[in-house]
Amino acid sequence: MPLVYYWYLKARCFNRPWNIRIDESYRPNVTIITPTYNEDKFIQKRLDNICEQRYPRELVEIFIVDSASTDRTLEVVKDWFVKHPETRLKVIREPARTGKMHAISEPLKYASGPIIIVGDADSLWDRNAIKEAVKYFADSSVGALTASLGYYAGKQMDVENTYRRFYNVLRAAESKIHSTPLHSGVLQAIRKEFLEKFGLPSYPGSEDCAIASYIAFVGYRAIQADDVWAYEPLRGSYLRTKVRRAQHNILNFLLTKKYAKKHARYVKSKFDLIWRVEWYLYIINPWLLVVCLGLMLYSLIALHNATALLLLAIGGVIFAANRTFRGWTFQQIFLVIAVIRNFRTKETIW
Ligand code: GDD
Ligand code: MN
Repeated sequence: MPLVYYWYLKARCFNRPWNIRIDESYRPNVTIITPTYNEDKFIQKRLDNICEQRYPRELVEIFIVDSASTDRTLEVVKDWFVKHPETRLKVIREPARTGKMHAISEPLKYASGPIIIVGDADSLWDRNAIKEAVKYFADSSVGALTASLGYYAGKQMDVENTYRRFYNVLRAAESKIHSTPLHSGVLQAIRKEFLEKFGLPSYPGSEDCAIASYIAFVGYRAIQADDVWAYEPLRGSYLRTKVRRAQHNILNFLLTKKYAKKHARYVKSKFDLIWRVEWYLYIINPWLLVVCLGLMLYSLIALHNATALLLLAIGGVIFAANRTFRGWTFQQIFLVIAVIRNFRTKETIW
């Protein structure tokens, strides 16, 4: 199923025109929001990276929203600001740790730009990222945009980058049809007007994907652009990070459609079909893998079935030889673990 979907999208949709009025000369004010919790190792690079953007400096405003970090994050920000006094940088300090979704909702009341860009503290953007991203917002149908993604550090970087190449094609192709429900806080640009009208979704889960899906259900487009690039490191425990992200993705697929119908003006569109396929891929498909593997092992061990042996052998060879398949298989396992873990904790704060 995933392969058929991938081939279909790549052959039929990936090279389609955008059907968006792109204006290269559009230069709106941009408000960048970076939430931080104990980011003293990354925050300086993040600020430097914003300054290196090829976008008029006077149009960029930065909010750091810090949730009571216990490390040197705020001191690093202060030192950086002393060296860059011309920057429009503001710091919001939350008295306690409240999670990322709450943090990004804070500065919205002060943001001066019509475009908000959320960027995690550990992300690095391509130098043209803002410039390439805003041109899509010249068209009022675009509500949100996320970057094509890569990893710049971390032990499992190679497997993940191989998987991401395949993932990026899916996201861009879905975006050409209408929207993709899978966005990333590494770089997510949002039209402020949308947030003023509909607010942020307010349940636990991946705020980035929830915002994208919510926006698409209301009828705007939530796209991943193939010419905007951003990078993140893999840090901390690989298993924990992957399972947490899977938990959040599952919550998004279980909650956002209902939420949009209840809290906003749900609009039927081509996005519904994309949603259904992705819903299947995230909610059902991982369990098919588990059930089929179980049945094959049972057939092999208890019934000595030769077909089961052959199928398992084919799967094993592809698993060993093909990195993408390996990445995808692990992803299914993370999704299965995530369902079980979601019963214990929703990981709103990590
Ligand atoms: N202010 C604030 N308060 N910021 C926080 C908090 C908090 O309680 N918790 C995390 N953050 C910040 C981090 O400092 C970082 O800038 C950003 O949120 C993302 O956290 P990471 O620790 O880098 O997590 P990630 O790389 O796995 O994040 C990805 O997955 C998350 C969902 O599981 C991103 O795509 C996030 O956007 C997404 O929320
Ligand atoms: Mn991160």
